[in-house]
Amino acid sequence: MLPKVFVTRRVPPDGLDILRKSGQVQFEMWDSDDPVPRMELLKKVKGCDGILCVLTEKIDAQLLEAAGPNLKVVSTMSVGFDHLSLDELKKREIRVGYTPDVLTDCVAELTVALLLATSRRLIEATHEAKTGGWGTWRTLWLCGHELANSTVGILGLGRIGVAIAERLKPFKVKKFIYTDVTPRPELANMIEAEYVSLDKLAEQSDFLAVCCALTPETHGICNFNLFSKMKKNAIFINTSRGGVVNQEDLYEALSTGLIAGAGLDVTTPEPLPTHHPLYTLKNCVILPHIASASYTTRNAMSALAANNLLAGLRGEPMPKELKL
Ligand code: GLV
Ligand code: GLV
Repeated sequence: MLPKVFVTRRVPPDGLDILRKSGQVQFEMWDSDDPVPRMELLKKVKGCDGILCVLTEKIDAQLLEAAGPNLKVVSTMSVGFDHLSLDELKKREIRVGYTPDVLTDCVAELTVALLLATSRRLIEATHEAKTGGWGTWRTLWLCGHELANSTVGILGLGRIGVAIAERLKPFKVKKFIYTDVTPRPELANMIEAEYVSLDKLAEQSDFLAVCCALTPETHGICNFNLFSKMKKNAIFINTSRGGVVNQEDLYEALSTGLIAGAGLDVTTPEPLPTHHPLYTLKNCVILPHIASASYTTRNAMSALAANNLLAGLRGEPMPKELKL
């Protein structure tokens, strides 16, 4: 009998083709663009050897119990892994695949786009143009903040942070600074970034980009304490996970002018309900978690997730395995 696999969402074709052509698994897919209801998911994973999931599925003790003892591999089509209970997976010796690297360029590109949209107030500006606000050319109307001669801070320097800095450098950024649990000289040298404390990062950054993973240590790390140390002209950008930000504190910081603006690709919860106060702020640009959303990248993510799954089921090293 071939190993049994449940794919929790309709995944892009490249990954699907790999699973189909492998002849190595019998798989069932939740063939929808919307998440599988939890109760359904708990039924579907029963007896599975492998699960290919996306970031909306909580892979926790309850789900692992529902799957049962056959489960050997969980492969997530995401670089983030905060939806996976790593302790529970480790306890059961279940191997975990994820999709770093293939989305780095795409996420960095979107981060730069969001940064510019926020700092140069593009969303507000198109709205004004469309709705009659463009009465005439005015000297300080829709003025924003420019990257030239600025200091850019990166909270959590990994592959994505480096890729963002590489893209921002040609905008004549003066200085890159970063903070992380420990200095990361190899990555930092690639972009000549200086290691500073979190406080210094807040104090010195004209643009602050959050690029860290969501962990118990980073949960709510961007809070009033941080925002109150930032410059009034500072632009805050988050393309990591909503959980790193205390949103009430961010609302306060944005609405009282503690900082100039925020661009968020991620929120808590997701989707952020349409009545959320952050939507009422002109200086807050909110995107619906699209940083890795290019056809090329989403296909590459699905292919990598499929290859991780198949390798894991064969008992071989995965192309990208999360060390538990
Ligand atoms: C997207 O947020 C991902 O984790 O891949
Ligand atoms: C702007 O369009 C200028 O001419 O300065």
